[in-house]
Amino acid sequence: MVSSRWISVVSFVGIGSCIPVFAEEDSLQASIIDTSTLDGKLFVGYQAWFRKPFEDNGNSHWTTDTPTPEVGHVGIDMIPNITGYPEECLFDTSFTLPTGKPAQFYTNDCKGIVDLHFNMMANYGISGAFIQRFYGYINEANGGWINILNFAKTAAEKYGRGFAIEYDLNGAATGSTNVTNTFLADLEALDSITSSPAYMHHNGKPVIEIWGFGIVTEVTADDGIAIVTALKNAGWYVILGVQQAWHAELAADQPGGFGPVYKLAHMIQPWTVGAYDINNYDEFHDGRQAIEDRNALQQLGLESSIVVWPGGSSSNANPSEAFDHFPRWNGTFYQKQLDGAVNLKPNFIFGAMFDEVNEGTAIFPLLRNRELPTNQRFLGIDDDMEPDIYLRKAGDAASKLATASQLD
Ligand SMILES: *[C@@H]1O[C@H](CO)[C@@H](O)[C@H](O)[C@H]1NC(C)=O
Ligand SMILES: *[C@@H]1O[C@H](CO)[C@@H](O)[C@H](O)[C@H]1NC(C)=O
Ligand SMILES: *[C@@H]1O[C@H](CO)[C@@H](O)[C@H](O)[C@H]1NC(C)=O
Repeated sequence: MVSSRWISVVSFVGIGSCIPVFAEEDSLQASIIDTSTLDGKLFVGYQAWFRKPFEDNGNSHWTTDTPTPEVGHVGIDMIPNITGYPEECLFDTSFTLPTGKPAQFYTNDCKGIVDLHFNMMANYGISGAFIQRFYGYINEANGGWINILNFAKTAAEKYGRGFAIEYDLNGAATGSTNVTNTFLADLEALDSITSSPAYMHHNGKPVIEIWGFGIVTEVTADDGIAIVTALKNAGWYVILGVQQAWHAELAADQPGGFGPVYKLAHMIQPWTVGAYDINNYDEFHDGRQAIEDRNALQQLGLESSIVVWPGGSSSNANPSEAFDHFPRWNGTFYQKQLDGAVNLKPNFIFGAMFDEVNEGTAIFPLLRNRELPTNQRFLGIDDDMEPDIYLRKAGDAASKLATASQLD
């Protein structure tokens, strides 16, 4: 299943406008980022997979079980605040707001949406986005995902942000597909996108991230070795998004384990979504991140990225999952992680995710509790908080990390 990015503590659950948006004029972060290095930056993951049902693709991601989101058939727990979105990119749903009007959702590959989202990143000082590219959709016939990449390129160039491609291994399986070949052919076809001046480089190479070795176990370790070796030989700087307990596999060195794949990476990014909650975050930070991860990375001579996330809820997509499984605690959970990450000074911080409302990790403006539809259960941000609070926190952390990194 393509959307599963969820690791629970107890279980692994599959699962254009030029007008400044939200930020006040005086807080605009107009500076253009340096795309030659990831160091000292904060990037967000960008799913960009929310589309109007039936219009150009059956898979809209607003829902998981039917082609259209309606009461009882919706795959999101949180609802975007669509203030400032281009009218022609919105559509009515059957969810009724307290005002009596229908809640409106957006179509990601409608011109103007990706532009607006990058405009927000620029306004709050977020460095840019890692655009998710799902293995299962790489060869999608109608080209919707290529549209997203082209929009991201244009918007990143326009707003002085950076972007990079992040492959998500969901949908890939060694034995039924040659993953190496698929990636190499895809990257060749995407040359007009990765040659953009806004495309991120690091240590002189263009950046590519692959998410999921050791998590999407349909891709074997031997295949992983072949894939990473081929990408490095083709000149890419390779970041691996891996399971948070990745060094346990290094130590064990079991046959079939992913340790040999991790060792080949240039940079490791342990995936921590669902790995802790507000009560055991400090322990995770002080032990796992500050000691175990750091030691392992130093020994292997690898660079690092730390993942932060605001909280999580995926009960509409996964009814077996508890509602508000990882509460946001009014932004304090996110703030703790941002501070903790800045303190460890990784090469860059990865914000999971900009727009992930399926799993409730989105940081873009969302409806507050009192603004939610009344005919289906959703999770809102707290009533006394500004809709842009999470963007603001991410941007502040980006600026703190930039300062901390310059002090090295
Ligand atoms: C959405 O965000 C805007 C801008 O902050 C705010 O004025 C509005 O009250 C929020 N809620 C709704 C339902 O639009
Ligand atoms: C996949 O394709 C590459 C060529 O790009 C080849 O070297 C490799 O052997 C193939 N892998 C398998 C498992 O067939
Ligand atoms: C979060 O804010 C709400 C009001 O929106 C308040 O009722 C609640 O007590 C706050 N929770 C925490 C943990 O601060």
